[in-house]
Amino acid sequence: MNYKNLKPFPKDFLWGASTSAYQVEGAWNEDGKGPSVIDMGRYPEGTSDFKVASDHYHRYKEDVALFAEMGLKAYRFSIAWTRIYPNGVGELNQKGIEFYNNLINELLSYNIEPIVTMYHFDLPYAIQQKGGWTNKETIDAFENYAKTLFEHFGDRVKYWLTINEQNMMILHGEAIGVVSSDIKNAQKELYQQNHHMLLAQAKAMKLCHKMCPDAMIGPAPNIASVYPASCNPEDVLAASNLSSIRNWLYLDAAVFGRYNSVAWSYMEEKGYTPIVYENDMDILKAGKPDFIAFNYYSTLTAAKYKDESQSDNSASDQQMEMSEPGVYQGVPNPYLQKTEFGWEMDPVGFRNTLREIYERYNLPLLVTENGLGAYDKLEEGEVINDDYRIDFLRKHIEQARLAITDGVNLIGYCPWSAIDLVSTHQGISKRYGFIYVNRDEFDLKDLRRIRKKSFYWYKDVIKSNGEKL
Ligand code: BG6
Repeated sequence: MNYKNLKPFPKDFLWGASTSAYQVEGAWNEDGKGPSVIDMGRYPEGTSDFKVASDHYHRYKEDVALFAEMGLKAYRFSIAWTRIYPNGVGELNQKGIEFYNNLINELLSYNIEPIVTMYHFDLPYAIQQKGGWTNKETIDAFENYAKTLFEHFGDRVKYWLTINEQNMMILHGEAIGVVSSDIKNAQKELYQQNHHMLLAQAKAMKLCHKMCPDAMIGPAPNIASVYPASCNPEDVLAASNLSSIRNWLYLDAAVFGRYNSVAWSYMEEKGYTPIVYENDMDILKAGKPDFIAFNYYSTLTAAKYKDESQSDNSASDQQMEMSEPGVYQGVPNPYLQKTEFGWEMDPVGFRNTLREIYERYNLPLLVTENGLGAYDKLEEGEVINDDYRIDFLRKHIEQARLAITDGVNLIGYCPWSAIDLVSTHQGISKRYGFIYVNRDEFDLKDLRRIRKKSFYWYKDVIKSNGEKL
């Protein structure tokens, strides 16, 4: 629909920006922090590790002051489980509690709303050694961790996100670095882990409502509309298959407390179904989200599965197409351009994705990631002319406003990322931030902060409540 009049962004719209603990904090083994699976993982050749990252742990005050200068109304960050419980369970690390107390208080002193992700890829290594999410005990460990977060921060945090991109951890765990290659083909085990994460999430949501009745909590998967490669009914079915397996499996379980029927049949057909114990489905049903948070980078396109020779899942990551024998074949979309890192860009798909999710679940929506990874260049005079990022974000914000006019209840938009940070598997050179961090892959330089052109642009967007793009 082309509208003559667009609805404005809501008055209290959460204009924000996002990060995650392991990608921004550094201080990987300081003040009692235990190792996570990321700390103990392997890094792709030529990319830095996450030991120092953007050194936000030591510079959070300077960073928050910059966020305030940009006018952020909200800041979405994650808590490192291993700062709170170095071994995942057991002894609590007061220094970890102190750090997040300070960060939350600093944000609130500038009226920036903290939006907290409880777990963003960085499972405690001690838990991993006991079987990680394959072990049912991890559900209790997560519930205990959630309880601790609500106890200590629940008086000030009003927006909670349970698990970041659970769907990407299951589908692309190796690229992200949360699944080692030795269990690469053990799909059945992955879907068992998925089941346990769904239970852990449901328990955390229930607990949140009991302990923090004024707060809101929701899941934070990566959701993308899936287009059929053509109007061939077989292609349409393939797209629907992929959407059920990639999107609705996760959201149907979070919202309705049940497995998506197509996704379940897929798991049955492939022999991947998890063991579901007697009261598991009651637990799933008892946890209800107040909103749906989701990360959006691009859409996907699928065709009828043709043959093995055309399937190459080796380069796959969060946004790259995959294939599944007999189910769907991921294909490129000829209508879309790609980023320097090969991710298709689809602002209109953003509107479509917002509409699809809203129509399906009728819950408020919060965008917790959207952004452009690029090789930014620090030019003379301390400038970074990231016009391409402004262009990308502008187009997505335009589409968000159209979605609001379509009737979608969108409560906030938090692009990735507030500040430069280390990408999941492509190092610091793949930058997303509004604020440049002066370091290279291996040369930490002075880590000084420099406002990019997009910083000033986003500041105006927020100030005008999305009118001035
Ligand atoms: C999402 C993750 O998958 O995409 C972030 O939640 C990640 O942690 C972001 O950084 C961008 O992906 P990448 O691989 O470019 O860092």
